[in-house]
Amino acid sequence: MNLFIKKPISQLIETAEGGEYQLKRSLGALNLVSLGIGAIIGAGLFSLTGIAAAENAGPAVVLSFVVAAIGCTFAGMCYSELASMIPVAGSAYTYAYATMGEFFAWIIGWDLVLEYAVASAVVAVSWSRYVGSFLHDFGVTIPVRLAACPYDIVTMPDGSQAHGIVNVPAMLIIVLISLLLMLGIKESATVNDVIVVIKLAVVLTFIVVGFHYIKPSNYVPFIPPNTGTFGEFGFSGIMRAAGIIFFAYIGFDTVSVAAQEAHHPQRDIPRGIIGSLIICTILYILFAFVLTGMLNYKLMRGDAAPVATAIDLTPYPWLHILVKLGIIGGFTSVILVMLLGQSRIFYAMSRDGLLPKLFSDIHPKWRTPWRTNLVFMLFVSFFAGFFPISKLGNMTSIGTLLAFIIVCAGVMILRYTHPDIPRAYKCPCFPQFPILGILVCLAMMTSLDAETWWRLLIWLVIGLIIYFTYSRFNSKLSSKD
Ligand code: ALA
Repeated sequence: MNLFIKKPISQLIETAEGGEYQLKRSLGALNLVSLGIGAIIGAGLFSLTGIAAAENAGPAVVLSFVVAAIGCTFAGMCYSELASMIPVAGSAYTYAYATMGEFFAWIIGWDLVLEYAVASAVVAVSWSRYVGSFLHDFGVTIPVRLAACPYDIVTMPDGSQAHGIVNVPAMLIIVLISLLLMLGIKESATVNDVIVVIKLAVVLTFIVVGFHYIKPSNYVPFIPPNTGTFGEFGFSGIMRAAGIIFFAYIGFDTVSVAAQEAHHPQRDIPRGIIGSLIICTILYILFAFVLTGMLNYKLMRGDAAPVATAIDLTPYPWLHILVKLGIIGGFTSVILVMLLGQSRIFYAMSRDGLLPKLFSDIHPKWRTPWRTNLVFMLFVSFFAGFFPISKLGNMTSIGTLLAFIIVCAGVMILRYTHPDIPRAYKCPCFPQFPILGILVCLAMMTSLDAETWWRLLIWLVIGLIIYFTYSRFNSKLSSKD
């Protein structure tokens, strides 16, 4: 059995074009841009910007957004090239199968669970915090211990402290969105489109209204001097903050996961990826600029909802409500797209025999891989309800950065091994851009802490055990050999 057996690209395309596993093609270019934005703008922007400004970069968090955007742009171009060549479901996993062989494909597919499933759990918990605060404004209080996991310490109404029990709202949102996904991608895409419009409106309103409340003194000093510790302000602080707010960009690659459900994947997937990335980069930089101008970065320390604090400085109660609602809606679409991506990755892996068949069963009426959705509904909601996931945001980042690096390498390998396959989109400045993509992503990976690296390693070891005990022996490609 060959560990590095590669899937012929012609076979990948053939499979995509017919057969019993056919998914419904229902997404156009605009849907794809919307899918990207739906996945991108979320907890990263609304929660991590303030934290990274307060602890690492000060107002220069604006520059951290630029650094992270550079890495994502290179990776985004590489994703686009591969997606335009191999427009099938499965994204980075499928690309790795065609370029580096089954073993790497397995590693990347397994690694992507960190990106999609773990990120969904992280965002679900942030969602529950904002919903709690929103309901509180209207006099409805969720019992605190039922909105926190057993590892969290919460303050009870009488002032005493206690451990949480389970985060019910976080579990609930995962269940609801999973059910929606089971019903069908067209319906899910429509819900996503509506949410994206609301989310964009909120971000734009915040930028436009907030601009008038900027105090120029908050920008002084723009790059606070380093405290003597790596990552605390100064240049190293900007880099550390880039590694943290990288989470805010995660999601544009989800567009390529839906390649098999796009009307014209070759043309529209690159548009979806690059379009959503450009829009989000511009909005993020403006947003971070306005936020750090309205609120002094020192005041954001320990504030999980800096946007709410900043918007309270404006005298418009309607705006306070609108912004919170938009944020809640924004989180909802991130979870939706992340869970969609997750089910499509496992669908592709199961179709290849690397995972049990239940993950690629398509529902006869809904035409969705509903059993995968069901499995992840249980897995992610359990995670969201019972685990302390604040640190898992970093796990998502490291897992995604690893995927980006493999994708950039994949583009280079295919240019040499398959120079003649038509590429509707080509990454410009080859090979400099893919190489720069790898370097910038590596720099962000190394800025993350040792604990995160250990978690990544443990996760990969679990994956290897599954591969060597199950997947290798059930691989369709290997058994054909
Ligand atoms: N980019 C997504 C977010 O910020 C994961 O929530």
